[in-house]
Amino acid sequence: MTESFIIHGDIVYSKDLTELACYENGWLVCDSGISGGVYKTREEIPVRYQAYPVVDHTDCLIIPGFTDLHLHAPQFAFRGLGMDKELIDWLDEVAFPEEAKYSDSRYAGTAYRMFAEAMKNSGTVRALIFGTRHTDATMLLMDAMEKTGLVSMVGKVNMDRNCPDTVREESSEVSLSETERWLQLTKERNYSNTYPILSPRFIPACSDDLMKGLANIQGKYHLPLQSHLSENQGEVKMVKKLCPWSTSYGQAYDRFGCFGANGPTVMAHCVWSSDEEMLMIKKNKVYVAHCPAANMNLSSGMAPTRKYISMGIKVGIGTDVGAGHCKSMFDAMVQTIEVSKLYWKYVDIHAKPVTMEEAFCLATRIGGSFFGKCGAFDEGYEFDALVLDEREIRTPIADLSLKERLERFIYLGEYRDIKAKYVRGSSILI
Ligand code: GUN
Ligand code: FE
Repeated sequence: MTESFIIHGDIVYSKDLTELACYENGWLVCDSGISGGVYKTREEIPVRYQAYPVVDHTDCLIIPGFTDLHLHAPQFAFRGLGMDKELIDWLDEVAFPEEAKYSDSRYAGTAYRMFAEAMKNSGTVRALIFGTRHTDATMLLMDAMEKTGLVSMVGKVNMDRNCPDTVREESSEVSLSETERWLQLTKERNYSNTYPILSPRFIPACSDDLMKGLANIQGKYHLPLQSHLSENQGEVKMVKKLCPWSTSYGQAYDRFGCFGANGPTVMAHCVWSSDEEMLMIKKNKVYVAHCPAANMNLSSGMAPTRKYISMGIKVGIGTDVGAGHCKSMFDAMVQTIEVSKLYWKYVDIHAKPVTMEEAFCLATRIGGSFFGKCGAFDEGYEFDALVLDEREIRTPIADLSLKERLERFIYLGEYRDIKAKYVRGSSILI
């Protein structure tokens, strides 16, 4: 149930990429699932909220929840396994054989319940999730996510070429009609927190007709779309071969109508994007889901995150489970900072490392903006919050600033230290 209440504690959120809003002993209002603003003193709280019950989290850090902008639910089962390969071999030998199992609804149901439980028990409040190409299993995933109370966009994956028969859809027509059937089913379920997102796997696995058909569906139903872009050098070469007319991988998506023209679009990775591709990402307002763990695990390379940030491109962070080994957005923020430091030293000395404030902003305000007014405590924003308990981070140091406490929690905190979690004002028990 969505309630109205006031939380008291040490409140921190991103104002923008460089600045944190910090309220030690502050007061945060939740008005029927929407933020009523943050106040320095109890007296400052507007009269219309004064009678709301106070939830006392004195001495705890209170921050917005995280948006995981890219992950694969069916790959949760093998997280932490099979990391000694690059993308294309990893897909063939690790990811596709597992995803084939989701034709079995019993297996899918069990695996997705485990996945959803893990998402609930994390700092993530919102997520963009790939399923598999199987419509029925994807409905089980959506049912499981709906039960968690988290807000998610979930995709039935489209793939009709360059993959084993076990995961390939028979033809573009079959893939498109299954997509329409899936969209109809999602409408009938009438979910409150779970939304469909079109999910062509990537151009190597999607025929031209399939991509064009999905662009039509996107325009027709005003849907968001997620896919992968320029993750691996071999993959980029493959796209050049499959689309010899293209000037870049991104331009190929654009030509098909799947690069922002027909609705909000997120592309994961963008490690090897050319200058032209970057400009197109910016022009088309495509979001980049930076997935640092996957960059490292699949030896893909280091995404030029600083460049994207400087260009004003909207960058969020994805765990990319299972190419990313873990579901923690705390870890993903640390990895974002670490990868950017290596990029700075090894690739471009002008590309300054991503700061803690920036990583936090990407994981909250910027990633959250894909869902609308989310990822901050500005008045009018949806109320997604984490209450963090630092007691397990033992140290004799007692005089840390809120900024330092946030930094330390990002590096050292675990989901067990999350004392309370709210999504759209509802308490999620973890
Ligand atoms: N590119 C196409 N499919 C995938 C996937 O499942 N994981 C990653 N990391 N990249 C992909
Ligand atoms: Fe991915």
